[in-house]
Amino acid sequence: MSWLKSPHPGNRPQVFAVVLLAIVLAGCATLKQCAYEGFDRDQWQQPERVIQSLQIRPGAVVADLGSGSGYFALRLAKAVGTTGKVYAVDIDSAINKALKERAKKEHVGNIDVLLAKPNDPRLPEPVDLIFTSNTYHHIDDRISYFAGLREYLRPSGKIAVIDYDRRAWLEGLLRHYTPKEFIKREMEQAGYKLQNDFDFLERQSFLVFVPRSDPSQSGALAPAGGTSK
Ligand SMILES: C[S@@+](CC[C@H](N)C(=O)[O-])C[C@H]1O[C@@H](n2cnc3c(N)ncnc32)[C@H](O)[C@@H]1O
Repeated sequence: MSWLKSPHPGNRPQVFAVVLLAIVLAGCATLKQCAYEGFDRDQWQQPERVIQSLQIRPGAVVADLGSGSGYFALRLAKAVGTTGKVYAVDIDSAINKALKERAKKEHVGNIDVLLAKPNDPRLPEPVDLIFTSNTYHHIDDRISYFAGLREYLRPSGKIAVIDYDRRAWLEGLLRHYTPKEFIKREMEQAGYKLQNDFDFLERQSFLVFVPRSDPSQSGALAPAGGTSK
């Protein structure tokens, strides 16, 4: 490939890096999609197995909290089928716009993209499942936030939390992770009990929680956001 031959041999690594970056970006609609999804994510993320583990029935209503570029939201939309619905919720209006366009392009009609507040997902109705992937560590004041999510769950609703743990070296360096034991403890304090602890992901924990019948017993706090909903 002669176009890769820089007249200055010392520059070849940089030329190669630019070409590589262009190839990578060509596969992503936005820079953030690239950052969140990379190229080999399916291999370590096992999205089909994750969704299968959640036993989502057709017609279910699911919220993807911190949906980003839609990696899971689009797959969840497939799982709930045309009679179900996915609320893709994020605080980033630019990524929401990109996801709306992506869903339109891929003819996925059962996703509603919503702009959340940092302390409130502002869901328009209670849902069967609140799913959140790689977002838990971004949320402030989590015990209060997740205590507040109880009002967005249907009576048999549950919350699935996937987040990087210390096995993810890059996210570890960037402090973009939450140790599994922290998540368990905080969710317990927010009024939930652990239903499943799936251990098949190589760099993330994958925990499922259901509301406890008496959240006050472990000192759960008042709903997040207070009057702001
Ligand atoms: C690392 S991305 C993960 C995206 C997607 N869940 C995935 O697995 O590819 C984290 C996303 O969470 C969003 N986010 C951060 N804090 C949030 C909050 N309080 N409520 C809703 N979304 C939030 C960010 O804007 C970002 O799009």
